[in-house]
Amino acid sequence: MMLLASPWNGYLEKIAASGSVTDLDAVEHELFGRKAGALTMALKELGGLAEAERKARGQELNAARIALTEAITNRRNELKSQGMGSLATSDTLDTTLDLPIKERGHLHLIHEYIRKAGEVFGRMGFDVAEGPELETEAFQFDLLNFPKHHAARDSQDIFYIHGSKDPENRELLRGHTSTVQIRYMQQVGRKPPFRMICTGKVYRKDADATHSPMFHQIEGLMVGKDVTLANMKAIMETAVKNLVDENVEFRWRTGYFPFTEPGLEMDLRWRGDESKSREGRWLEVVGCGMVHPNVLKNVGIDPKKFQGFAFGFGVERMLMIRHQIPDLRAFFTGDLRFLRQF
Ligand code: PHE
Repeated sequence: MMLLASPWNGYLEKIAASGSVTDLDAVEHELFGRKAGALTMALKELGGLAEAERKARGQELNAARIALTEAITNRRNELKSQGMGSLATSDTLDTTLDLPIKERGHLHLIHEYIRKAGEVFGRMGFDVAEGPELETEAFQFDLLNFPKHHAARDSQDIFYIHGSKDPENRELLRGHTSTVQIRYMQQVGRKPPFRMICTGKVYRKDADATHSPMFHQIEGLMVGKDVTLANMKAIMETAVKNLVDENVEFRWRTGYFPFTEPGLEMDLRWRGDESKSREGRWLEVVGCGMVHPNVLKNVGIDPKKFQGFAFGFGVERMLMIRHQIPDLRAFFTGDLRFLRQF
């Protein structure tokens, strides 16, 4: 360190001792500050000195200015590179650190499944249709060939809307998606042949491990000139293999629905070990059958020329078998620990 006259030498020491850029800035200000910097003041005072003294003092201050400026610049560079050096050691990336997982939303498994069903049936030539959840007895029952006093109309099962205007055609929450069969076939200009599916919510006064007051159905309808029961079975078997499991075990039983003749039901075998009580048991997942001639007549299709079949899968029940979920109510509790698994 070069030696300067006092007090400049003291400043050189201060500069060397400053431990941070902020400290250094403070020393710089003490020296060169425009108003009260020590060196600034000293330079200002030069003018008031006698000639000889001014020369000597001027040289001294000039040497000090050069030396101090250089010392500040050097110290600043030193401090900066020290900072970078410590950053290099402190700012390392620990790839083993267990960081909190960033939450990302995803579709509820029922909705994802409904999309998948659209694809599976889409590949077999089915269109996707929709219908309202708020319906009337006409679509829920009458046009589907239910007799006027059929037990299914009982308010024990169906959610009726209070204050319906027409007591002969009460409003209700649809109890099955078969309502959409009628709406689809009634559409102006719709002529067979056609294949459609409709997925949506349905409502029934039911609640236990395999029933919920709201659940989802996939309705299917295929009408054409020579559509047979064998076609129906082939399509439905393809559907369950794709939508449940390639090796799913199923069985057919006869079933009864006013809007089919004949009617069938398909059961899938429970294959979970999570719920031992269900193991080996059969779960009914779909009702189906050949569309009743009266239903075709009701929508203006000649049953002598056209036949068809219809089916109604229970979405949650298919998912129960697919993922071995023992209780259907799990779908609707909103428990994230359950939902995150899918
Ligand atoms: N709608 C019937 C139900 O909900 C299922 C079904 C649909 C049966 C189509 C036959 C044909 O139980």
